Amino acid sequence: MRRKSILITGAAGEVGQALIQQLAAQGADNLLTVDVRPLPAALNGKATHYQADILDKTIFDRLVIDYDITTIYHMAAILSTSGEFNPMAAHSVNVEGTMRLLNLAAEQSDWKREPVKFIFPSSVAVFGMQNLDNKAKHPRPQEWEWNYPITMYGCNKLYGETLGVYFAKHYKQLAETEPTMVDFRCVRYPGLISAFTVPSGGTSDYGPEMLHAAAQGQAYECFVRPDSAIPFMAMPDAITAVIQLAAAPREKLTRQIYNITAFSLSAEEIAARVQAHFPATQISYEPHLKRQRIVDSWPIDMNDDAARRDWGWKPAYDAERSFDEYLVPNIRARYAK
Ligand SMILES: NC(=O)c1ccc[n+]([C@@H]2O[C@H](COP(=O)([O-])OP(=O)(O)OC[C@H]3O[C@@H](n4cnc5c(N)ncnc54)[C@H](O)[C@@H]3O)[C@@H](O)[C@H]2O)c1
Repeated sequence: MRRKSILITGAAGEVGQALIQQLAAQGADNLLTVDVRPLPAALNGKATHYQADILDKTIFDRLVIDYDITTIYHMAAILSTSGEFNPMAAHSVNVEGTMRLLNLAAEQSDWKREPVKFIFPSSVAVFGMQNLDNKAKHPRPQEWEWNYPITMYGCNKLYGETLGVYFAKHYKQLAETEPTMVDFRCVRYPGLISAFTVPSGGTSDYGPEMLHAAAQGQAYECFVRPDSAIPFMAMPDAITAVIQLAAAPREKLTRQIYNITAFSLSAEEIAARVQAHFPATQISYEPHLKRQRIVDSWPIDMNDDAARRDWGWKPAYDAERSFDEYLVPNIRARYAK
């Protein structure tokens, strides 16, 4: 008998690791994970891990023989800055990889005659504000506004969302009223900050990098201007959000794609919070033109009213609590070891 399982791709990444911890803490003992990297030793025994490339079709052919996949958290991706270094590779992983997983979900649900849940983390990178004036005038875009991404990653995520909606509402369906094959549910994350992992390859990385550097007594050279402002979220909220969205009754969901956010800060506001806790930290600014342009194209905030209304989204960590109760104490403890 095939075992009912939850599949997590990109499991060795920042979000993947935190998601495994949380699902395992909630009692899930059926986690199946895939990543090109091994899982860190701290996650031993919490998941059955396959070290494999999502572009390798044979891995999924093998998995479906042994497992009945009920939910897919598709976290694997090449992030915004990395994607600009190698757009073709980003396109392969972010688009072809997503298509492969959506197709797996469709095949599984077709075979079982019941929908497979597909949880997709999209990003603030799908927005593309035209210039700083426009960014200031439209600080809190709705899901459908200003969808003009300027990175390969943002284009890929926007198309991934579109593919997800296609599979949810149109794939092999003669009418929208026919049952959903793939129960596609998507959050658009802002920049995420974890106390336990250090990011790489993203364009919001200056936030977490500043904190991790300060806790190690290092100076930090920030790659964007002090006034650069975008939305952020502490990792525990990012994990709560996808678990909560996966658990929401389908009939409550009025859409497939939801903006979610927690707080917005400029680089200098982050620096001030960091220096309040680590007063000796030296922070300087040396904007990197390409990364600055990307951050300038992202909105200051996102309108997440629909998520709040439909499935009760509410971040537990505002800026104050994120720094004072989650980030600073845990990052201090991490580097004190
Ligand atoms: N971290 C953020 O600030 C942020 C913001 C918005 C959206 N997101 C989205 O959340 C998801 C998780 O992000 P993260 O911060 O954990 O990123 P991450 O870079 O830490 O993790 C991504 C993981 O995907 C894996 N991966 C990449 N290519 C793969 C492939 N071909 N096959 C198998 N595994 C592959 C990597 O090895 C890595 O472990 C991503 O989809 C990302 O786009 C993240």
